[in-house]
Order: sequence, then structure tokens, then C-alpha cells
Amino acid sequence: MLTNLLEGKRGIIFGALNDKSIAWKVAEIAHQQGAKFTLSNTEVACRMGEVRELSERLNAPLIAADATSVDDLKNVFEQSQEILGGKIDFVLHSIGMSLNVRKKRVYSDLDYNFLNKTLDISAISFHKMLQVAYQMDAISEWGSVVALTYVAAQRTLCDYNDMADAKALLESIARSFGYIYGCKRHVRINTISQSPTMTTAGSGIAGFDGLMDFSDRMSPLGNASAEDCANFVVTMFSDLTKKITMQNIFHDGGFSNMGMSQRAMTQYNKSFENEMAKPWELDPTATK
Ligand SMILES: NC(=O)c1ccc[n+]([C@@H]2O[C@H](COP(=O)([O-])OP(=O)(O)OC[C@H]3O[C@@H](n4cnc5c(N)ncnc54)[C@H](O)[C@@H]3O)[C@@H](O)[C@H]2O)c1
Repeated sequence: MLTNLLEGKRGIIFGALNDKSIAWKVAEIAHQQGAKFTLSNTEVACRMGEVRELSERLNAPLIAADATSVDDLKNVFEQSQEILGGKIDFVLHSIGMSLNVRKKRVYSDLDYNFLNKTLDISAISFHKMLQVAYQMDAISEWGSVVALTYVAAQRTLCDYNDMADAKALLESIARSFGYIYGCKRHVRINTISQSPTMTTAGSGIAGFDGLMDFSDRMSPLGNASAEDCANFVVTMFSDLTKKITMQNIFHDGGFSNMGMSQRAMTQYNKSFENEMAKPWELDPTATK
């Protein structure tokens, strides 16, 4: 077991809401591995008890910011450098929200004001964060920035709605800014594409239980938990992964490279058990 992977490193973790949040687990493991960091979330989230408890327990000051506000982000980077005593070595963007999903507006009936908000909160905030850091020169040489994403950016998964478009944009921003920041300061920027995970954001997606079960059955290693994800994120913050940049890395037990698994097929076939015959056995020309 490697210890003190982040000894001496300073970071900012955006998006810890409660003990289910992926960012919460990242904060706990980063702390165990010797990092010092600040936490940031919206004003409302910071007022709620849970993230305050985490902040106190880990001795990680909490700085409220709406990640769509450039001024708020400037304040987070300024204050974090002041509090932590130097440039920032790692940043986690663990932020996502869709009002279309929340208000149950389906993809063929999107509210475009909501769509703009989805893109701003879930993707453009990442550009804003990077641009603020870049212009302030707030991240140290070989610093590491990670944002969390989902395979719906590449493949259609019904009901992921406009978050799929937001994740595609998020991943593109990681590549585009990764080039610029890499050339300038060797700062690396990556996205981690995580398995479905039962968190506040995750459970907002329609049919999430079914999606988690399907994904688990399809993945040879099973779904990756929030803790698994946090361990991987911390590795990406460490010096062990110095030459990885501009990548979207799947952390999903193998799901993204599967077409069909025995476990998923077995379950699928059970849905026909009470039927006399499968449609294609009655009519060989029927669509499977
Ligand atoms: N849970 C999953 O199944 C799953 C899978 C893959 C990727 N992800 C991604 O992981 C990230 C973290 O989500 P999570 O699952 O831990 O859920 P979560 O609900 O715990 O975290 C989402 C966070 O976004 C914050 N947020 C929302 N609007 C904001 C704003 N305007 N400014 C600042 N912060 C804001 C929320 O307060 C919350 O802390 C998201 O990007 C999500 O899309 C989640």
C-alpha cells in the first residue's frame, strides 16, 4: 500500500456535497495521503451541515463559489493559495447539474434556458476554472486537474438527457486546455469516466437503479464505487502519473468496451420466461 502519495501537495476540491459524493471520498483519501486542500461548493451547499462537518474534520477550509461565476472562481484560487501557502498542485472538478433532468424535460422537449444552465454548470465551469487558474498562474508546474465524466458522452444511454452533451463538451475542454496548459506549465488535464454511482447527482437520472444493475452485469470487473474512483483520482493527482494528459480515462470495470455479457444476457432472457415463445422464434424475420 503506497502512503503519503500527496505529501506536500496543495489542492482545491470542488463538489463535495454529502458522504455519497465522489468529491467527498476524494477529500478523505487525499487527506489520508498527506495533501492539504480547500473545499468549494455553492453557497447553499456550504450552509448545509454536511460539507461543513467534512471541512472541520479534515481541516480543509470551505470557500463558497458558484462555479459558473468567474469572480467566485478567482476568489477560490486567490484564497486557496493564501490559505495553503503557495501555488495549487491539484484541482478536482466534481460538478454536474441539469434542470432538464430535475424537471423531467425529456431530450426531445428540452427547455433551452435549462440546457444553457446544464452546459454552464456541468462543462463551461471547467473552462472558467482553467482559464482563471491559467491567467492567475495559480497552478504549479506538473500540477494535475481532473474532471469527472460519464460514458454517455460517447454512447447513447437513454434518459441521460442533456448531461450527455455537457459531458462531451467537458471532455473536449480537457483536451483543448490540456494542450495549452501542458505547453505553458506542464499542467496536465484529464477526465475520468466513472461507472454509475449512487450519489445525489446520479440518483436524479430516471431509472438509475436499473442503469446501475445493467452496468454492473455488463462490466467484467463490476461497477467502480465512489471509493474506487477516489483512489484513482488521487493517483492522477500524484507524481506517479506525470505524463498522462488530455485523456478521457474510463474507470468503469470494463463497461465501455463491452457489447453484451453473459450476466446481462441471462437477466434479459428472464424477461421472456413467462411468454410462450420469443418473438423471433415465432417469426424468424422479426427484429431481435
Ligand atoms: N454519480 C454518477 O453516477 C456519476 C457517474 C459518472 C460521473 N459523475 C460525475 O461526477 C461528478 C460528481 O457528482 P456526484 O455523483 O458525486 O454527485 P453530487 O451530487 O454529490 O455532486 C455534484 C456536485 O455539484 C455541485 N454543484 C452543482 N451546481 C453547482 C454550481 N453551480 N457551482 C458549484 N458546484 C455546483 C453540487 O453542489 C454537488 O456538490 C459530476 O460531474 C457527475 O456528473 C457521476
